[in-house]
Amino acid sequence: MAAAASMATSLTFPLLPSQGLRGPSTSWLPCTIPQRRFSRKVASNLITAKFELKPPPYPLNALEPHMSRETLEYHWGKHHRTYVENLNKQIAGTELEGLPLEDIIIVSYNKGDILPAFNNAGQAWNHDFFWESMKPGGGGKPFGDLLDLIERDFGSFEQFIQEFKSAAATQFGSGWAWLAYKANRLDVENAINPWPSEKDKKLVVVKSPNAVNPLVWDYFPLLTIDVWEHAYYLDFQNRRPDYISMFMEKLVSWEAVSARLEKAKALAAEREMEEERRKKEEEEEKHTDDEAVEMYLDNDTDDSEAE
Ligand SMILES: [Fe+2]
Repeated sequence: MAAAASMATSLTFPLLPSQGLRGPSTSWLPCTIPQRRFSRKVASNLITAKFELKPPPYPLNALEPHMSRETLEYHWGKHHRTYVENLNKQIAGTELEGLPLEDIIIVSYNKGDILPAFNNAGQAWNHDFFWESMKPGGGGKPFGDLLDLIERDFGSFEQFIQEFKSAAATQFGSGWAWLAYKANRLDVENAINPWPSEKDKKLVVVKSPNAVNPLVWDYFPLLTIDVWEHAYYLDFQNRRPDYISMFMEKLVSWEAVSARLEKAKALAAEREMEEERRKKEEEEEKHTDDEAVEMYLDNDTDDSEAE
């Protein structure tokens, strides 16, 4: 633990997601990030930034009778609060302090060899995203572009529901199930990565263990359900499938999911344009370099002929 912690403090980050093309830009995320507040330490006169626990966008009893006030009091008021508080303690004084939460998640995921801050950072983000995936009087069927994409990529809304429920029910132990928008290139080592085709840009259902979320795979999360036992045990005991059905039928905010999809599509398009611009610049630089080499060779030939 101590060794891993020192790794976290000694890391340097040449290209963070919020600074480069790798990973969704933090600006697209629809108000899901625990609010960072600045507070002054009087004794040291230092300005420090801390993440603060943000309340769900509805009163704690607003999801009743489907999700009880008691569940929200424990789940948000205790579990989520602890993740945020522990994250602040873990990153204080390290190189991670001051970074956007998404950057902390991706850096501390460390390509699967996770660093100590990852679990609390992931859980802080995931829970905000979860609260905002629900609304009182939710459920039903999505509409517009979202429904069109669901029908295109899953065959039908009913088939999507079946796949999402199955992912949530079969996540072994603690974790999450997600609907996400995948718009990245194929990440295959030593392959010539093609530019994203329309086929690459699609909706996917994925499940993740513990605190992992689709940001670490460079996907845009659209919807999530928490399948840790603490999410449903007070209301459903061990009946996870009943909790999942209730979530889909009574609580999902398709408005939130639609808004996230529109932002994801816009940002994916922006990212693609930026990559094309960068590729063009690289080709122009290469062309300039080739011309310089050619001139050198010509001069070299001339010299040998002169001898
Ligand atoms: Fe949870």
